[in-house]
Amino acid sequence: MSKFLFIQTLGCAMNVRDSEHIIAELQKSADYKLTDDLTKADLILINTCSVREKPVHKLFSEIGAFEKAKKSGAKIGVLGCTASHLGAEIFKRAPYVDFVLGARNTSKIVAALNSPKFISTDINYDDSEYAFGDFRSSPYKAYVNIMIGCDKKCTYCIVPQTRGDEISIPLNLILKEVEKAATNGAKEIFLLGQNVNNYGKRFSNSHKKVDFSDLLNEISQVNGVERIRFTSPHPLHMDDKFLDVFVNNNKICKSMHMPLQSGSTKILKDMKRGYTKEWFLNRALKLRNICPEVCISTDIIVAYPGESNDDFEDTMDVINQVKFEQIFSFKFSPRPLTPAANLIPIEDNIASMRLKMLQDRHTQILDEIMLKQNGKKFEVYFEELRENNQVAGRTFSNFSVLVKGSEELLGKILEVEIIEPKRMVLYGKVIS
Ligand code: SAH
Ligand code: SF4
Ligand code: F3S
Repeated sequence: MSKFLFIQTLGCAMNVRDSEHIIAELQKSADYKLTDDLTKADLILINTCSVREKPVHKLFSEIGAFEKAKKSGAKIGVLGCTASHLGAEIFKRAPYVDFVLGARNTSKIVAALNSPKFISTDINYDDSEYAFGDFRSSPYKAYVNIMIGCDKKCTYCIVPQTRGDEISIPLNLILKEVEKAATNGAKEIFLLGQNVNNYGKRFSNSHKKVDFSDLLNEISQVNGVERIRFTSPHPLHMDDKFLDVFVNNNKICKSMHMPLQSGSTKILKDMKRGYTKEWFLNRALKLRNICPEVCISTDIIVAYPGESNDDFEDTMDVINQVKFEQIFSFKFSPRPLTPAANLIPIEDNIASMRLKMLQDRHTQILDEIMLKQNGKKFEVYFEELRENNQVAGRTFSNFSVLVKGSEELLGKILEVEIIEPKRMVLYGKVIS
């Protein structure tokens, strides 16, 4: 008889894909079926994030609630980045946890399930050539990992400690996965890695020389692929060749994530980001110039230790010049095992004030951007049913669109006219 699996995923898109891999392995080798009813589950998994302090606290409150609600005999496993960084401490703080499996050890899930108090948090483990089973949460959009780990070692970031060094996945394995997803109906391929435009730097085994631009060109030729997205590229590696392929390949969605972190060259140097304010502005403004329809998103950390008012003003200046369509902004959060962990923090009230100033300015910019979309026509790929007979999709440049309709729109790319722009979403009507 099948057993039931409940899985909760926190963190980034890489965790979403890791959870899909876990589900596939458990369906294939242990006959599990997914449930969203925790009390029915024989196995409860939480795939965790460590990037800031808050999600780590969330882990312990969540698993405490799981332990109370679960049926007798059900197992609890902790996966992902916090599993990597806290390791055996999780057993100490939550003795009812059955196993701990670090972010880079996903392919060991069946072994973890079958040995008492299994723990594996090895950040040198290499499953870059492991062929995971098949499971996708959406038939329309396929996440595909192109690398594991990260070599960058930005001073504030815990990811290199949880996911280890960067290794690229061989081109033929990526293409095989893309072909399979496209054959199964996914028109959109979403490439994932911590540093995607550094693809090809290092493989586990000998491999022909290939870079991210080559990879994009190869994927765009796969039958059935209509849209390609990727995250995260690094501003440092946005050379002219990469921008040229981005603009001229008509399968690549015109949406670029450019994680700025700070607009101050001094703070960028302290963070070891490898680029200056001028380099970032040069790349972003060039991109706006050669690709007027592009949407640019970014990540920003305010109040990194040592950030002066002038440094913060530099960040605001970049925001005013680039006018990002989307900003993910965070207060600096000291993370264990990182070089920035022991620096003298900026007072929290100053950090909060800067975060608010930045977010308020972004809201003004966003309102102007969204208003300008009124009456425009976009090709929208419909992916999700929403309540009140609404269907959600995205434009090629990544605006979120809602129209009235039913499931027959799902999986289709249709022309939509915008009739009511709101701050977070454009309301439209299908015109063809
Ligand atoms: N590889 C991606 C980042 C992944 S982490 C990149 O370089 O863009 C996602 C975002 O979390 C980062 O871009 C950063 O803005 C934020 N972040 C990472 N560590 C943080 C910390 N210690 N405090 C606050 N935000 C942090
Ligand atoms: Fe973290 Fe920097 Fe790597 Fe991104 S590039 S995952 S911020 S170390
Ligand atoms: Fe979080 Fe790990 Fe992703 S720390 S952001 S889940 S790489």
